[in-house]
Amino acid sequence: MNVLVTGISKGLGLSITETLLEKGFNIYGISRTKSDKLYNLLKKYPENLKWLKYDLEDSDNIYKTIFKEWIGLKTPIHGFINNAALAYDDIITNLNINRLEKIYGINVFAPMVLTKYAIRHMLLHNTKGSIVHVSSISVHTGYKGLAMYASTKGALEAFSKNTAREWGEKGIRSNCLVAGFMETEMSSTLSEDQKNRIYQRTSLKHPVELNSVSETIAFLLSDNSKSITGQNIHVDSGTI
Ligand SMILES: NC(=O)c1ccc[n+]([C@@H]2O[C@H](COP(=O)([O-])OP(=O)(O)OC[C@H]3O[C@@H](n4cnc5c(N)ncnc54)[C@H](OP(=O)(O)O)[C@@H]3O)[C@@H](O)[C@H]2O)c1
Repeated sequence: MNVLVTGISKGLGLSITETLLEKGFNIYGISRTKSDKLYNLLKKYPENLKWLKYDLEDSDNIYKTIFKEWIGLKTPIHGFINNAALAYDDIITNLNINRLEKIYGINVFAPMVLTKYAIRHMLLHNTKGSIVHVSSISVHTGYKGLAMYASTKGALEAFSKNTAREWGEKGIRSNCLVAGFMETEMSSTLSEDQKNRIYQRTSLKHPVELNSVSETIAFLLSDNSKSITGQNIHVDSGTI
């Protein structure tokens, strides 16, 4: 099974890539940088892991560079994992339109264009593909300072639900993985005090394990989940 994954250089994307490779998937992964961990993974899986340096700010060349020239139109795609995203941590009264446009470009517009061509690719090969967008618990609970970021993930949840409706009859599925707080570079700017306050809002009182998210994504790609579409699957340590 060939799966396109965005944001594989670190954090959750790296964990998803490792988990899927261990399960025998072929990964087409995208990021702007090649971290040491990604470098080692590329050496460990020379056949199954392919990497493209690509900046998702450039949404105009997604079809030509990613689908036509790199993956190739003859290679079927069975899954697309939209994981790459930018954070925006600030209160609404400080909202900056340029920053807002930038995160919408990476978190919403590029994933929508990627979905467009992933679905076309699936239709071309008649594959009953699975699409997973990584969303955030901030959409459902609200956190001070995350309104702009959460709004990008809310847009993805609506897009995913409608993708499921529109393409379900072709067997193409779309779900959102709603992640709670994870210890990654994205969340590294938070103070211990801020992190503890977030943990207190969870039932389990600890951050979400990357492995729990990656394994759930592997399940959503597999045939074991073939009756699941249009859903938001929460992996959030039981956030209340
Ligand atoms: N961390 C949390 O607590 C948390 C909670 C809920 C949901 N999430 C979501 O989980 C997903 C993964 O987040 P994370 O915590 O793993 O973040 P992260 O550690 O910051 O990693 C983000 C990944 O996205 C890539 N990326 C960012 N901008 C890109 C661009 N313009 N073009 C291509 N790739 C780009 C980065 O690679 P390069 O820098 O090499 O390009 C990196 O591999 C995101 O969708 C995030 O919104 C995170």
